[in-house]
Amino acid sequence: MRVDTLALEDFRNYRREEIAFSPEVNVICGENAQGKTNLLEAVYYLCGVCSFRSRGDKELIRFGEEQARLRASFEAEGREQELELTLRRNGRRQILLNGVRKKTAAELSGRLCAVLFCPEDMELVRGGPAERRRLMDLAISQLKPRYAAALSRQNRAYENKLRILRDWREKPSLLEVLDEFNDELARSGAELIWYRAAWCRRLAELAAPLHGEVSGRGEGLELRYQTVKTVEEPEKRRQSEIYEALLEHQKSHRQAELDSGLVLSGAMKDDILISINGSEARSFASQGQARTAALSIKLSEREIIRQSIGEYPLLLLDDVLSELDERRQDFVINRISGGQVLISACDGRQVSARTGGKVFEIENGTIKTT
Ligand SMILES: Nc1ncnc2c1ncn2[C@@H]1O[C@H](COP(=O)(O)OP(=O)(O)OP(=O)(O)O)[C@@H](O)[C@H]1O
Ligand SMILES: [Mg+2]
Repeated sequence: MRVDTLALEDFRNYRREEIAFSPEVNVICGENAQGKTNLLEAVYYLCGVCSFRSRGDKELIRFGEEQARLRASFEAEGREQELELTLRRNGRRQILLNGVRKKTAAELSGRLCAVLFCPEDMELVRGGPAERRRLMDLAISQLKPRYAAALSRQNRAYENKLRILRDWREKPSLLEVLDEFNDELARSGAELIWYRAAWCRRLAELAAPLHGEVSGRGEGLELRYQTVKTVEEPEKRRQSEIYEALLEHQKSHRQAELDSGLVLSGAMKDDILISINGSEARSFASQGQARTAALSIKLSEREIIRQSIGEYPLLLLDDVLSELDERRQDFVINRISGGQVLISACDGRQVSARTGGKVFEIENGTIKTT
């Protein structure tokens, strides 16, 4: 799997640029605020999930322009493909895959996949549960289009339910449709939980030995998926059983939800419990331990994709090498072969001296190959 060429038009701070990537290592260098992350964002966006840092397409369109376009030729699933995305300030994005119009980005999942590792990922271990849900959502959505679809159904049902819980006192008739959204939350939630449980299990199996190795002290990393209490041992349950358990949990929280105006039951509070040598990492891990665990998790995310689809996804390392000490840098660099990699760094020269590969200089939204 690889991206061969990418043409950008009015995407972020790029006016019109074309770039031909190496199938192996690409080092993207430049000073701050020149467009390094924007370029990785464009590549990530091709994978069809969403941007990893914007909430909507509008932000991606160059200031003052009405639309942005990305055109890429890539190889995935053993064949050469073409993808063209047009983002409009007022309206839906248009997606053309090999000349065929696609309605939703979900239809693109499974074509190109990428694992992104950025400085914010260092917060995976010590940050709040939302960080870890984001990890699961972005990772599994790319692998399973059904997951992405369930996630958007869940988000919609959640918003609707929240509105009812806030407004039912003024408008009691709203309660008539509460059960409908409850049912949708449980149904989509069951699907999410089922996928998350399986994914977390594989993540745990892969990340533990990596962590032991990077730490150099054989530290034990344990990852455990945590979901709604009534769903016991989710990895052993069928979706229908999870659905029933979710309904049961909703029932017992119904009154509390009406009283508080908050959604208290459902998969949107899921988390991954991380512990290192038996103690909860979120509260007790040192900075170095947290980094090592984050690194092991990200490399495992990549390995899960390789095992599922038989090839490595793109690996996008946004300014992370400088965050790691030499030992951890070596650990990453020794593992990046075997797939296409894009590495961004301010000190690109130093990085490329260690990784090799094709070097691009970015200056104010223009790209030079050196
Ligand atoms: N929609 C947009 N239109 C025009 N410019 C934009 C848009 N969105 C972001 N930018 C500009 O892009 C620049 C940031 O680019 P980017 O985040 O890629 O920088 P970077 O090279 O990764 O820098 P750093 O090394 O600091 O991470 C900012 O100057 C920002 O104003
Ligand atoms: Mg950046």
